[in-house]
Amino acid sequence: MCDNPSTDHLFQQLDDYIDSLPYKKEDLIVILHQAQALFGYLPDKVQWHIAQKLDIPSAKVYGVVSFYSFFTMKPRGKHVANVCMGTACFVRGSEKLQAEVEKQLGIKTGQTTTDHLFSLDSVRCIGACGLAPVMTVDGKVYGRLNDPKEVEHILATYETENQISETVVH
Ligand code: FES
Repeated sequence: MCDNPSTDHLFQQLDDYIDSLPYKKEDLIVILHQAQALFGYLPDKVQWHIAQKLDIPSAKVYGVVSFYSFFTMKPRGKHVANVCMGTACFVRGSEKLQAEVEKQLGIKTGQTTTDHLFSLDSVRCIGACGLAPVMTVDGKVYGRLNDPKEVEHILATYETENQISETVVH
């Protein structure tokens, strides 16, 4: 169990979830999905905890986490932006769009902003080719993004939303 009290309840939730599964060892991928949903990512201590709980080698857990691209070992931002680099979007300027989003967020694709508000990734076709070039933020699709002002407006929406929720919390 982790010594950090701020994550103790997450480990407890994870344990409860694992305990509820009939075939624990066979459900490693499902358990990792749940762990990532709880912690936001899969750091060493979470992987080690799962290995202990399932009584399997931690190398096996690491092997699965590092094999699948949907698992991440790095902390993610509160919002995840994905620029589509599929063929239709590429032809219609997704490289420019990606460069613009990177510039506005001040990070490269695959990175997270220092305030942990945004992570930026790229995806292959998301099935919205008619709207190319396309970006998603937390799964919401934004299309025809050829104007940097439009990108600025979208990102600002999430920044403002965050400021409002922080004001309400404090
Ligand atoms: S190629 Fe981007 S949505 Fe299809």
